[in-house]
Parts: sequence; C-alpha cells; structure tokens
Amino acid sequence: MMSRIESVRALEILDSRGNPTIRVQLSLDDGVVATASVPSGASTGEHEAVELRDGESRFGGKGVHKAIENVHEVIAPALNGQDPTRQAEIDALLLALDGTPNKAKLGANAILGVSMAVARAAALASRLPLYAYLGGPGATRLPVPMMNIINGGKHADNSVDFQEFMVMPVGAPTFAEALRYGTETFHALARILKKKGYATSVGDEGGFAPNLESNEQACEIIVEAICAAGYEPGRDIALALDPAASSFWTSNGYDLAKSGQGRKTSDEMIALYQGWVEAFPIASIEDGLDENDWSGFARQTAAQGHRIQVVGDDIFVTNPAFIRRGIAEKTANAVLIKLNQIGTLSETMQAIALCREAGWNYVISHRSGETEDTFLADFAVAMGGGQIKTGSACRSERVAKYNRLLEIESELGKAAVFKSPFASNSSSVD
Ligand code: PGA
Ligand code: ZN
Repeated sequence: MMSRIESVRALEILDSRGNPTIRVQLSLDDGVVATASVPSGASTGEHEAVELRDGESRFGGKGVHKAIENVHEVIAPALNGQDPTRQAEIDALLLALDGTPNKAKLGANAILGVSMAVARAAALASRLPLYAYLGGPGATRLPVPMMNIINGGKHADNSVDFQEFMVMPVGAPTFAEALRYGTETFHALARILKKKGYATSVGDEGGFAPNLESNEQACEIIVEAICAAGYEPGRDIALALDPAASSFWTSNGYDLAKSGQGRKTSDEMIALYQGWVEAFPIASIEDGLDENDWSGFARQTAAQGHRIQVVGDDIFVTNPAFIRRGIAEKTANAVLIKLNQIGTLSETMQAIALCREAGWNYVISHRSGETEDTFLADFAVAMGGGQIKTGSACRSERVAKYNRLLEIESELGKAAVFKSPFASNSSSVD
C-alpha cells in the first residue's frame, strides 16, 4: 500500500550562527514523520536561488515567517495526498508553484526544506536508510572528508584572506581512519598554534582562526601539523583550499586586504596558486578566482587542471545551466554541490549527473550556517562522488555529519568502499 503525504508544516529554528532558518516536518498517512532543516551561506554566489527573509525588525531582518507561510499556504495544500516516492514530480510541482527562475516567490529555503523532507519521508516509508533510498544498492562509497581546519575570509575575524584551508586524508584506508587522521591533525595544529602564541578560537566552520602573518603561513603551519600528528603530507593527507575569491574581488582586482598582501590581477592570483601547488601538497583549489571571472578560471584550469582539482562553487552555484557552460568552456574540472544554492533535490541531482557525464569530480558541501540535520552525509554516500566538505573536527553541526558517516560505514560493513578521488593517478584528476 502506498503512503501519501498528509501534512507539511514548517518551523522557524536557529542555525549555527544564530540566524533563523526553516525546519520542515512532513507527515504521511501511515504515521511516518520526517523532518529536514535548511542551511545558509555567508559567502554566497550572486546567482544562488533566493533565500526568502522577512526583512522586518525581528532577527535583524533575517526572520523566515514569510517562507513558512508559503509552506503552509501554498506548498502544503498542493502536496496533500501525493506519493512521496515521486520526488522528481514533486520537485517539478514546487518549481511550478514558485514560477520564478530563482525561487524568489516561495523562497528556495521553503522549497528545499520540503524537497528534502519528502525524500526523507519516502526513505522511511520504504524502510530504507536515506543513502540507500537515494543511491540504490550501489551506494556504498564513503566520501573523503575535506576538513576545514583554518578559517579566514568571511568566516572569521582574523588576518587571513582565504576562507578555507582544509586537510584531506586521501591515504586513509577507511572513512573512520580518515576522520581520525584529520582530527589528530586538527589537535596537533591547536598545540602548534598555542606554542607560537596564536589564538585557538574557531571560525564558523570549526577551523581555527588565528591572526597569521600571511595566507601562505596557513599552508606552512598545516603541513607542520600533519607531520606532528605523524602523517606524511601529500601521501596520507593532502591540502585543499577554498579562497572564496569572490569575497575579496573588487573592481580594482583581488584585494588581499585582511593580510595586507596587496592587490592582484587574475593572472597574478593564478601565479600565486602555481607557486603554492609547487610548494605544498595541494590536491584541490575551489573558487581561486571570482564568480564572474570565467576566463580566469579557464586559464587556471588549463595551467593547473592536470595536477589539481579545480572546483567551481560560486561560479556554478550548483546550477545545471552554469555547469553546462563550464563544461563547454573547460572552466574547471569539478563542482561544489550545495543543495540550497539551487533549491531542490532533483535539480541538485541533475547537476551531479552533468558532472558524471563530463568526467568531472563533485564535492558534496555544507554551508557555513548549518543545523544538526545530517541529510548531507547520506546524500554524499548516495551520490558516490567520494568527497564531502563539512567543516572541521569541532562544532556539533559539522561533527554530526561526520558521525553519521561513521554510522553509515559501520552499517555497510564489508560492503563499504573508501577510495580517494585522486588515488588512482596522483598527478591527474581529470
Ligand atoms: P558559505 O561558504 O556557506 O558561507 O557560502 C562555504 C563555501 O564557500 O564553500
Ligand atoms: Zn566555496
């Protein structure tokens, strides 16, 4: 007997930065109740789907009562009686109800909360764990975590321009071991920072936010931490960067103002990365250039794409139309995937399908504003791309995703696969 959607309710909750966001609770007529909570970014891409905020005095304008009203008054009546396993049809219906190209009418936050809750309800009704429901019996690959252990840019009030310095335990044999490698490195980094007299307070994604002398010092100190934790940089643990360059791009070029390292052109930024790729074991660079710098991205990919993963986040905003352009123009060789940039599960899966067809990598990612929802962990296993970016080894909204991946790995037992996206050919990812 098929289960049907009986009610859809939304609630205003808080995210990890204390800003309001939406939690959707969806009930089926068989007694199943599923919830899903929506994340929120700080260094958002210009073309992201619209996060609907009230703009009134509550919460400094960030309230989400309008989006909630849209769930109750527009979405819920339309979904009543629907079969939750018809995800693509339900997502298409949500798009039709909204009717705008960027989900501005109902709000991508309202739409995504419902889209995720529908999937979770369908998984529960099918008596399958979410990863198995979304990914089928082949969903056995655990992702390599990209753990963001030094935070800068818009995620921290410090002297570092680049937003994220991550460790990727590419040489670990299992997810659990990878998490241990990364966590031990995080603790070793704390000891080193303390010894050198730097602060060990953390930024939005749980990485340390020290006032370093320069951006490159972040790479140096992480390599030191990898060694101190007993691992070999490059072989056991590689570095991954997300400069989030849109956040320091100005009409006068890339302005490294926080560190006082001056202004740079696109080509000077590419040259800076080239120097770093030679000096440090960097496997991946995301948003090294501004979201509108398509030609700069293509030049960086031509110069470095054989050697590193060049990931587009703000430039593609998980939007199939932008990813198609990127594939045609060889803009990058990988895409950062964020459900709330595009706003439905189905469109996110279309974005991933495009990556697979092009032989591009894809990284499933959290936002800097997160909740305790672990949907992302199951989604990463379901999609099988072998990479997840979900913060450091502290702050429970980040660790919750890692803990859920530990659970999934343990549940899969001998069937669990853990393989680095770079292991088969360490000098090439494309
Ligand atoms: P955001 O940062 O969630 O603040 O956009 C994450 C990222 O840039 O990858
Ligand atoms: Zn990014």
